[in-house]
Amino acid sequence: MQKLIFATNNTHKAEEIRSVLEGRFTITTLKEAGIDMDIPEPFDTLEENARKKAATVYHLTGISCFGEDTGLETNTLNGEPGVKSARYAGEERDFAANIEKLLDQLKGKTDRTARFRTVISLILNGAEHQFEGICEGSITVQPRGEKGFGYDPVFIPHNASRTFAEMSLPEKNQYSHRKKAMEQLIQFLITQ
Ligand code: IMP
Repeated sequence: MQKLIFATNNTHKAEEIRSVLEGRFTITTLKEAGIDMDIPEPFDTLEENARKKAATVYHLTGISCFGEDTGLETNTLNGEPGVKSARYAGEERDFAANIEKLLDQLKGKTDRTARFRTVISLILNGAEHQFEGICEGSITVQPRGEKGFGYDPVFIPHNASRTFAEMSLPEKNQYSHRKKAMEQLIQFLITQ
């Protein structure tokens, strides 16, 4: 099986991606690859941050790898929190505080539509390829559900009635931005 390093320390994301790959590739996280670092996300776009993560790992290991960056983009707030999603309420990357800030910013707004957008940067044998996955939906007034991570308790995908945090992982995968981006990555990899 082909080995790929996934440039993340987020075990939720690794679990999601392994569930999509269904044993076709061996995925190693940063920690499992012995890389003890949190790769910075210094740029203003998901595309540049995803590239930075993959390129950092490729330069360290020479092993084919991918990085991804995801943002929650709301229409009313001109795309915010977007690329700042992880640190929306501060450097601590506190999921609950981020949700609280988002709900506060959306208070009284009628348009609560939003999308999760994932960009994956794959470096395969030294060349970069990017893939995008989008999940359209809307932001609830109150958090609901205990599963998942990040903004899952306040995001309902279009054509669903429950938040991501109220769904099992296979259910979330029916809608998920990350899964859509991964499917494109897989389609690309199997044609290589
Ligand atoms: P990252 O920079 O790609 O790790 O993601 C930025 C932030 O977006 C994370 O800290 C989460 O708050 C949020 N996020 C990313 N993916 C998801 C998801 O699938 N569900 C809920 N929140 C997410």
